[in-house]
Amino acid sequence: MPGSTANAHSLLRERDPVPASAWGDGVAWDREYADVCAIPSSHRLEPSRAFTRLAPALGDLAKCRVLDLGAGTGRHSTYLSALGARVHAVDPSDVACHLLRLRSEAQGVRVNIDCTAIDEHHLPDGKYDLIIDSYASCHILATDARLRFLDALMTRLAPGGRLYTAGMGTRDSFYRRHIVPHYDETIAVDPTNNIAKLLQPSDVSERDSRTLGSVISCWTARFVDLVGAREEQREVHATVLGR
Ligand SMILES: C[S@@+](CC[C@H](N)C(=O)[O-])C[C@H]1O[C@@H](n2cnc3c(N)ncnc32)[C@H](O)[C@@H]1O
Repeated sequence: MPGSTANAHSLLRERDPVPASAWGDGVAWDREYADVCAIPSSHRLEPSRAFTRLAPALGDLAKCRVLDLGAGTGRHSTYLSALGARVHAVDPSDVACHLLRLRSEAQGVRVNIDCTAIDEHHLPDGKYDLIIDSYASCHILATDARLRFLDALMTRLAPGGRLYTAGMGTRDSFYRRHIVPHYDETIAVDPTNNIAKLLQPSDVSERDSRTLGSVISCWTARFVDLVGAREEQREVHATVLGR
């Protein structure tokens, strides 16, 4: 029937393709760190606002064994190492790992750096008192797959250990403008670096966190930050989980 063919075609036209995922894609991240620098925090030295706010819920940072997953250029790794923590930083970007190495040498701190990608089936062997997922697992573009990954990470916590996880919220003004249609308004692609992110609605973020373990602390951060030359209203959901 001509009518139904036309409908099928218009549906096909309307549905955007699933964006490529930068999860585990070291080359995409090399481009971000070496050339594009679209993400304001890519080269920042200080721990993030959300991490600093939730730090009191993270245990004794001076003594802990830390896995900094998707460490980037190492703003959390170097900070924690300077406090006395034993830090294992993992990231698939050669450029990020190189910058993290230079930073830790310049600051005289020790960070064990693994330039590799991890996923739910390939996690480091050890047990950790603190696992940091600061804007890393949000590059897994399906909520169920991201939760499976976080669930696997929870198995790497030592008794009393904590998982810190943070991602961008759906009300972030920058990512709202770049939402890809038809994925429940939860996937956005930054047009500057082409990196796609899974955004978290705040109610879903809380509900999902409770399926993973006990929520020790959580915070929705709203603040203004410069993205490129423009001021944006940022929204971040951060959670500290225990088993
Ligand atoms: C937005 S950056 C966050 C960097 C850092 N955690 C921070 O808060 O500044 C995301 C990082 O996750 C890393 N990443 C992406 N996929 C990964 C994977 N499968 N395993 C480990 N790290 C990954 C990227 O290379 C990138 O450095």
